[in-house]
Amino acid sequence: MTVDGIRRMKGGAPIAALTAYDYSMAKMLDACGVPLLLVGDSLGMVTLGLPDTTGVTMEDMIHHTRAAARAKPRALLAADLPAESYSTTDLAVSNAQRLLEAGAEAVKAEGGIVICEQVRAIVAQGIPFLGHLGMLPQRVKEEGGYKIKGRQADEAAALRDDANALVDAGAFAVVLELVEPKIAAELTAALPIPTIGIGSGPDCDGQILVTTDLWATSPDYIPRHVQPHEQVKSEMQTTVQNWMDDMKR
Ligand code: KIV
Repeated sequence: MTVDGIRRMKGGAPIAALTAYDYSMAKMLDACGVPLLLVGDSLGMVTLGLPDTTGVTMEDMIHHTRAAARAKPRALLAADLPAESYSTTDLAVSNAQRLLEAGAEAVKAEGGIVICEQVRAIVAQGIPFLGHLGMLPQRVKEEGGYKIKGRQADEAAALRDDANALVDAGAFAVVLELVEPKIAAELTAALPIPTIGIGSGPDCDGQILVTTDLWATSPDYIPRHVQPHEQVKSEMQTTVQNWMDDMKR
């Protein structure tokens, strides 16, 4: 899958996107034909035991991106720029390059107008950029939790401005996290690039999930917008239990 391929999926078959944090996850999801895989900084909570994504480092992202990239997925492999890694244009470009050297084919960062200079600089280096608007997990402390965005008129207006700014800056698609579904649908209809929703209703061009939420294996918390497949977790636990029981015979 290429960036253009993802772009061309706008308005067509829904774009399925999932997080992959290592070689085996990337292999398994790729075998299912998922067109877009993200080495998300959600790996901080899911694999590193951190309380949120704010403590994830570039070294963490490079380590996991390398592992996922070794699967050589047919899917487009994007990786998150972690918090503080794109606070200036120079930092954003050099860290985006490091993720590409680790095997990512595109990078994602959170924010709209405030990071547009960084986005332009990244895109100017030929690095495909995936936007992320709505609830911004890297700002969870400032925002006081994981709250829906776009319910108030001023928030909806800010989302429109941010989305248009990302398009102008050259983003090839944009993740909409916890955006009021009506606004997500409006943005999807208005923007020339695909929208990929997470907890933003059914009307985006695609949907992304933290894979371990789908599998019900996320250790501490599964958000309300996911219908976790509990049987995956229980089958894994039963397999371990049976193996332990077999040992006793
Ligand atoms: O870090 C992450 O996993 C994300 C999501 C959009 C799922 O950014």
